[in-house]
Amino acid sequence: MLVMQHPVFRRFWYPTIALSSLRDGPLPFTLLGQKLVLWLDAAGAPVAFHDKCPHRGVALSVDSKVVDGALRCGYHGWRFGPTGQVVEIPQQPGQSTAGHRRCATKVNVQARYGYAWVCLDEPLAGIPNLDHAADPAFRQVFEFDEPWNVNMFRIIENALDIAHVSYVHGGTFGTETKPVYTRLEMIDEPETLGFRCNFGVVNPPDQQKNLGIAAGETVRRQRILTWMPGTFNIHITYPNGLIHSICGFATPISDSQVQRIQFVFRNDSEADAPAENVAAFDRRVQAEDKRLLETMEADFPLSPHAEAQMAMDRAGLMLRQRLVKLILAHDPNADLVRAELERDGDTALRLVDVAA
Ligand code: FES
Ligand SMILES: [Fe+2]
Repeated sequence: MLVMQHPVFRRFWYPTIALSSLRDGPLPFTLLGQKLVLWLDAAGAPVAFHDKCPHRGVALSVDSKVVDGALRCGYHGWRFGPTGQVVEIPQQPGQSTAGHRRCATKVNVQARYGYAWVCLDEPLAGIPNLDHAADPAFRQVFEFDEPWNVNMFRIIENALDIAHVSYVHGGTFGTETKPVYTRLEMIDEPETLGFRCNFGVVNPPDQQKNLGIAAGETVRRQRILTWMPGTFNIHITYPNGLIHSICGFATPISDSQVQRIQFVFRNDSEADAPAENVAAFDRRVQAEDKRLLETMEADFPLSPHAEAQMAMDRAGLMLRQRLVKLILAHDPNADLVRAELERDGDTALRLVDVAA
């Protein structure tokens, strides 16, 4: 079974569409294979429905409009209020729709950090609390929002893997001449998994301006955190006190595709470093990751013996351990999952048993 098929992943919140994009009208989004339409109600709050009109089944995201705080279907013009209830059937003027039994299917949604966050089932956890979001000393810089052809957990594993920096990021902040090998101070909390570390990085001319550090090399004090299943935060403090806190999201569209969303919180100003330049550097960094990550196969193997490992992969192994535990605890077919893992050589299960 492909890892993303486990129903437990429907029980988490994911950022989908920027609220600013929804101001222009309803938009479609596919989350874990479920087609949705998102729109804003009269108060500007996001609403999410299954992307299917209960009248004839057309996509509610096509040729629809928000009229008087209700979503108007593009086919026959029925309107649906934020609860999904039919509020108007234009072909039956003056007739009450109050008792109409067929509704649009509403899905959990809430606004946070400028995005509409959706959870397809009963939530197991809240939306991650990101440092600095409510701090007026920090600004939020939006960096990118685009589909990548990669499994969600490869993105999270990549955030927990600093060993790749020297090779993948030679065009930005890494260098092959100094493979990253540094002590990781692990963070293993109920809600978060990650580590703290310090390491030297290359500081090219464009980044020197973004950081206000006029030197060809500098040091990052980093705290990397991940929240199950698709959120990460790379919190970087530079020697001059600048904080660059990368908030990254991999929202699963399917087994092998995610919407990659990223913004940063920084304690400097537009005059210090224009947002456009800050975003441009991080986009170059992420494009370096994307090239390699998109070459990987669709699934994310849970068994540590499915792939080779090294000492610096410790956080990635802990991620697998958490995934196995989560799936076994919540999958209605946990026995089948256990049998499948046993068939794979028992090594994924041993990760859990050792931890228990
Ligand atoms: S299909 Fe939506 S109103 Fe008819
Ligand atoms: Fe990277």
